[in-house]
Amino acid sequence: MHMPNLKDAKIRTNKKVETKLASNLKSEKFKNKKYFIKTYGCQMNVHDSEEIKGIVENLGFSETINLEESDLVILNTCAIRENAHDKVFGFLGRVKHLKKDKSELIVCVGGCMPEQESVSNLLKEKYPFVNIVFGTHNINDLGKMILESSNKQNIEVYSVEGDIYEGMEYKRDSKYSAWVNIMYGCDKFCTYCIVPYTRGKQRSRKIEDILKEVQELKDKGYEEITLLGQNVNAYGKDLESDYGFAKLLEETAQIGISRIRFVTSHPWDFTDEMIDIIAKYDNIMPYIHLPLQSGSTNILRLMGRRYTKEEYINLYNKIKNRIPGVSITTDIIVGFPNETDEDFNETLEVVDKCKFDGAFTFIYSPREGTPAAKIKDNIDLKIKEERLQKLNEKINNYSLEHNKEYLGKKVKVLVIGASEKGEGKMCGYTETMKLVNISGAEKDLGKIIEVEITEAKSFSLDGNKVIKINN
Ligand code: 5AD
Ligand code: SF4
Repeated sequence: MHMPNLKDAKIRTNKKVETKLASNLKSEKFKNKKYFIKTYGCQMNVHDSEEIKGIVENLGFSETINLEESDLVILNTCAIRENAHDKVFGFLGRVKHLKKDKSELIVCVGGCMPEQESVSNLLKEKYPFVNIVFGTHNINDLGKMILESSNKQNIEVYSVEGDIYEGMEYKRDSKYSAWVNIMYGCDKFCTYCIVPYTRGKQRSRKIEDILKEVQELKDKGYEEITLLGQNVNAYGKDLESDYGFAKLLEETAQIGISRIRFVTSHPWDFTDEMIDIIAKYDNIMPYIHLPLQSGSTNILRLMGRRYTKEEYINLYNKIKNRIPGVSITTDIIVGFPNETDEDFNETLEVVDKCKFDGAFTFIYSPREGTPAAKIKDNIDLKIKEERLQKLNEKINNYSLEHNKEYLGKKVKVLVIGASEKGEGKMCGYTETMKLVNISGAEKDLGKIIEVEITEAKSFSLDGNKVIKINN
């Protein structure tokens, strides 16, 4: 995308992408000090934060959820939509206030936002209290940057793809369900999307490194792993072998971990072989997130999505027919430039045909530096909001319809924590990724249990643990 041109920034260029061993710096310097981390955006960022936590805990920090008592604040940011951007600057206002009374506080801003030159410049000019600014390609340097931090702002953002680091000591949020990166970056360049610029070209991890990590997670007792990438179906296309995502899925399944998931899938790269492998292995979960983005072929073309409305529906039907009980969710953007009422109605039509299990729906916002940002953002906000509301009503009705199919059924649920509903309830996910609030499962954290569904809502199910009587 851009080449940051900041006076104090250290910039590497023409870097060859290599696999290296992570540095995992250990230190006693910050013993008894606390860090506060806030993560914005997608699962990739959530997993990056697990790496960041590993790095700062190796330096001696321990985590606090109380901003006021922290000695180190890290914001891991997202650039994908405008509101994520606004939230970060709002939060920085709070941090600035805190730093007035606590000058030794170390403030770090990292992730996707600083990869945009305008953001790095803004941080340099208007937010001098931010000590460290890092990008998506140099998370591995964060330990060193914190050890060397001073009152002088240090901005290190690289616009060229970073190395792939192996051997990171992640501080994982869960002991039962783990993220496993299979690739970094994306080569699809959908015209509205900032990701190929903030995260760079697609780089797949080596097969043996991925399988080793999955085996280690199984040995540690993890019940579930989610293979993670911006476009997992394109896995391996940048490697010098014909080993693709289908083969990776199969070898992962053969390791024997109970549940395997993967996000996110691009329809263009979804092959019949992948569908067959998902259908063949019981431990590959029957759940696919398959972003549609728009139901209008005209808009899909403007978005650079590489499929037509009909091709999407064909793929959808093929998946539904070949994988019994599969649930499919999607992402949809409304108000892309030039989207007419007819285009939007076509999106509603596809939703009626596919009857998705759920969807993340978004109002289009132009992202600086993307091709779509050059097209006039010519749909009124009011119209965008009306379309979003209409779409959400439809989506929520279908979600409820699907959830009602579970009433009275017994399903397997991985229990992941206490339910937000309180009352001693626990919560977890079905194989098809439905959230269930469960009664009678207080002692089952981290286990896969059988649950009988008693109530269905649009966004969750309620159920009771099935007690097995052994005689
Ligand atoms: N405006 C609105 N939504 C966007 N997304 C990505 N870029 C934009 C944008 N500029 C949505 C897409 C993607 C999801 C992660 O975010 O639907 O699949
Ligand atoms: Fe963005 Fe498209 Fe890549 Fe997804 S596939 S990350 S929407 S460019």
